[in-house]
Amino acid sequence: MITVIKDSLPLPLMRQCLDESQKQFLESNLRTNCGWGQELVQESTPVFIYDLPEESLRDQILECLCVRKEVPEFTESNVMFHYWTRGSYIPWHTDEGYKAGVTIYLNDRWGRDDGGLFLYREDEQIKGLIPEFNMMVIQTGGIDHCVTPVIRVGSIRASIQIFLK
Ligand SMILES: [Fe+2]
Repeated sequence: MITVIKDSLPLPLMRQCLDESQKQFLESNLRTNCGWGQELVQESTPVFIYDLPEESLRDQILECLCVRKEVPEFTESNVMFHYWTRGSYIPWHTDEGYKAGVTIYLNDRWGRDDGGLFLYREDEQIKGLIPEFNMMVIQTGGIDHCVTPVIRVGSIRASIQIFLK
């Protein structure tokens, strides 16, 4: 199932996430989608990844998730910032091994011609979402989904990505 929640996190927390994501992008040693395996990379340019440590914004983000009835109960979680560069994408997949995959978008302006659309298969149809600041997309039950290649020049598609077990 795909659940979409607009204005999902409190704005002060979103602003902190935005500041922190920009800071870590400039200052941290980021890992990349190389670790995802060839079937999930294919022809993609790099997606850079920052893993939020414990006792950080991570805990506040998870607290906001816990109170949402749409989010399944979980015992393990990974919270990351994802930075999608021009030409990056992820092919169709199902987040196998996780109870839920949750994405919260950080860009304040993103258009349908910028690429980086979230597509998913539901009722024998392919449906799509355009990233929107503070919109949360919750994927549960192994729904087939992908992110189309980012086309936009000059700014990176940034998101908070959470996987729950
Ligand atoms: Fe996914």
